[in-house]
Amino acid sequence: VYLGIDLGTSGLRALLVDAEGTPLGAAEHAYEARHPRSGWSEQDPQDWIAALERAVADLRAAHPDFAALRGIGVAGHMHGATVLDESGAVIRPCILWNDTRSHVEAAALDAADGVRQISGNIVFPGFTAPKLAWMRRHEPENFARIAKVLLPAAYLNFYLTGAYFADMSDSAGTSWLDTGTRDWSETLLSASGMRRDQMPELLEGCQPGARLKSELAARWGVSADVVVAAGAGDNAAAACGIGAMNEGQGFVSLGTSGVLLAARDGYRPAAETALHTFCHAVPGRWYQMGVMLSAADSLNWLARITGSAPRDLTAGLGEQLLAPGRVRFLPYLSGERTPHNDAEIRGSFTGLGAESSRDDLTRAVLEGVAFGLRDSLAALEGTGLRLERLIAIGGGTGSRYWLNLIATALNVQLELPSGGEFGAALGAARLAMLAAGDGTPEEVMVPPTTREEILPNPALLPDFDAGYARFCNAYGAIRAVQ
Ligand code: XUL
Repeated sequence: VYLGIDLGTSGLRALLVDAEGTPLGAAEHAYEARHPRSGWSEQDPQDWIAALERAVADLRAAHPDFAALRGIGVAGHMHGATVLDESGAVIRPCILWNDTRSHVEAAALDAADGVRQISGNIVFPGFTAPKLAWMRRHEPENFARIAKVLLPAAYLNFYLTGAYFADMSDSAGTSWLDTGTRDWSETLLSASGMRRDQMPELLEGCQPGARLKSELAARWGVSADVVVAAGAGDNAAAACGIGAMNEGQGFVSLGTSGVLLAARDGYRPAAETALHTFCHAVPGRWYQMGVMLSAADSLNWLARITGSAPRDLTAGLGEQLLAPGRVRFLPYLSGERTPHNDAEIRGSFTGLGAESSRDDLTRAVLEGVAFGLRDSLAALEGTGLRLERLIAIGGGTGSRYWLNLIATALNVQLELPSGGEFGAALGAARLAMLAAGDGTPEEVMVPPTTREEILPNPALLPDFDAGYARFCNAYGAIRAVQ
């Protein structure tokens, strides 16, 4: 059996799978992020370890098969900076991906010569390098003690094995990696005052990193030969879990935030559209994704302020897709990443009339999110990619109206997967299988079966093209008056 761990922002999920990669059982434990000041977001790495130990105890109690463990893979929330001293002790709480304190440092690094070209990405405030530049400026005593900087997944690797190693997919989100050649870049490291010896060893996600520490193997009742894979950032792991490995295979995720991700067989960065271009968790592949910050969150917001449940709002629309109406919504409740890279922009409703109803507002919100996803699709297509189908996942896929709308607004066929387990934890377990030498990426990283296909409505495509054109114009207009 193999263990896949998804170290998430709100909790840790551990998934046990059998020799065929079929899920046997899962355990989850929550922890908090602390926000000591506005825009700050931190976690104590000790909380991740406590959650991991509890999840392992749960799985051991429920599954005697746990004793046959062969491999472990860890997927983590990306970009977080866990800083360790010479003895391997944590110096300060981990600064997370959604912490924006280092926006000044990020803008400076982003403007520095060669940085976008080498890393393939904008330096977003959430990325790792600006966090270290911030520490150098604001916490010089902490900064001076840093012997290693580890991403959250690499820190769990260190807890599990005592060795410092990280995978390419997560490391590509630091702004220190040359994403095309898959190596640390001296130019990028020195731009934020860092050195190569402070970085972990770089491996492909599916490569074995090290063996489980003998003390843990004994305590967990497993073999001393259990191997820990290099692992992955959570989005690459999710791509592994859903079988998005080859050129153009991808998914759209309608979670709190929205992600449109596609696997690539080559390196074609497009930082200027705020597309993220990262290494995949297997060699010789990359993935690209557009990230919108408020997807299902936009609907949740409307539900909150109208005192209803998101489900009730969408149920009012039925299933029959309508052309975009006069009421329009810009989904920038928390600013936007792709394509605007604009932390200041905020959302808006326009076209409201005395006759506008709750359903009109709901439809506008769903349309605004769909058009935001189309922005990400357009950015991806700008790199030469053609997408004809996408697997649709996340809480928002519960609304049939929204699915019909997204298929038509994007002119892409959506596939709804059957079964419930295809996320980052499954991807991490699959990396563990490969690291243990039990299969190839082609055999292991397969897509789930499709339970249903949602097709675009050809009659409405021109209306949605026109609606998208208005949506694109609205950004500049609202920016000018806000
Ligand atoms: C990706 C990103 C998030 C985190 C959170 O760039 O910031 O998806 O990985 O899980």
